[in-house]
Amino acid sequence: MAISEFPSIAGLRPDFIWGVSTSSFQIEGAAQEDGRGPSIWDTYCHDGAVRNHDTGDVACDHYHRYREDVALMKALGVQAYRFSVAWPRVLPQGRGTANEAGLAFYDRLIDELLAAGIAPWLCLYHWDLPQALEDAGGWLNRESVTWFADYTRLVAARYGDRVKRFATFNEPSIFSLFSRSLGTAGRSREDDLHRMIHHVNLAHGAAVDVLRNTVSDVSVGCIHNYQPCLPSSSSEADAAAAARLNTYWNNAFPDPQCLGEYPAAMRPALAPHIQPGDLARIRRPLDWFGLNHYSPVYVTAKPDAMLGYDFGDKPSGIALTPIGWPIDPAAFGETLRTVHRRYGLPIYVLENGYGDALQPDQAGAVVDSGRIAFLRAYVEAMNAAAADGVDIRGYFIWSLLDNLEWDSGYSIRFGLVYVDYASLRRVPKASFDWYAGLIKAVHQR
Ligand code: FCB
Repeated sequence: MAISEFPSIAGLRPDFIWGVSTSSFQIEGAAQEDGRGPSIWDTYCHDGAVRNHDTGDVACDHYHRYREDVALMKALGVQAYRFSVAWPRVLPQGRGTANEAGLAFYDRLIDELLAAGIAPWLCLYHWDLPQALEDAGGWLNRESVTWFADYTRLVAARYGDRVKRFATFNEPSIFSLFSRSLGTAGRSREDDLHRMIHHVNLAHGAAVDVLRNTVSDVSVGCIHNYQPCLPSSSSEADAAAAARLNTYWNNAFPDPQCLGEYPAAMRPALAPHIQPGDLARIRRPLDWFGLNHYSPVYVTAKPDAMLGYDFGDKPSGIALTPIGWPIDPAAFGETLRTVHRRYGLPIYVLENGYGDALQPDQAGAVVDSGRIAFLRAYVEAMNAAAADGVDIRGYFIWSLLDNLEWDSGYSIRFGLVYVDYASLRRVPKASFDWYAGLIKAVHQR
């Protein structure tokens, strides 16, 4: 592959980490195997909430094929792999008795990664809450802070001898804002939303303490989805709606976690849920900021909806991915600069990627040139931000494999590796070779 295929990476640190990310529910399958309990996502899927009634019952069957998947990562040349532990696999009821068979699966995965020279980055929560805990109130119950701390202790004690990088939550703002546990009753949900935000923040703080007390040399962060929220039109109402959503989407979690207070606009609504000492419990020392970034979101005013917003039209003429997400590498660069200025922590980009529905061609190859162009432009923007002094230390592509998308099921593909869901055969795409070539070129610098 010609070197011109690759973006400039001269601004990146010599110890920069290249990786890929996945999550438990989206790839593991084996939903009822070896004592795993149901999660809320099993329930949603079986209720038909996901496109085509897709479920995570089999997914990519990673639970059985993890060796093949680690071998793919080795061929790719990544130094790190971010995955999540399925809480209901290790604690089928969410609390109480641990499931040894479930715990043993992650032992096997971690050992396989280490043998391949790949550092495991473990995310504790990528949305698959045990259904039993949801039945007990889920994140709306303040007890959830204790449930999460206890679960963290189990995971940290079991794997902390081999895993040093831990993330507490993946995208707390996304799973809160779009939580199905809030029901569908418009603005009446707002009080519950604030309650949930606060409990998840408290759970984060409690988990950071548990990790620091349990794992030697631990390096801890939280992973935030941070996207500019922009108004759909020049109206004042749309500008106000976009500013409001921006606060909830981008700042409701990192502000209290890193700065020790909620954004001013949210404070009155949060006040009824805050007990003395809570803000200090949330702001615990962090080693890095995990950033997931895809594209800006466009917002319009909708007064009777929760937080008074809806997603609005995108400006005409902007480039879009095949699934309609704006392609805007400049917004990525801007986001990196904003996060750096506001929070001052080293940044790891822990998700960035491109969704399509591309199928193999007649020769069986998946030539995803759109994904390659996207990744090249985004890495280029990241390199420019780093050259400007933004402290960026790693970049992980979402995702290693095509997998189950939360709303769109298997119809949308984000992988560097194509998965034929009928046979579960893995086919590395052109972007896989491109990323492998980039990582190789970096190491030959
Ligand atoms: C992120 C999620 C991840 C995946 C990508 C496309 O918001 O963290 O699980 O669905 O979007």
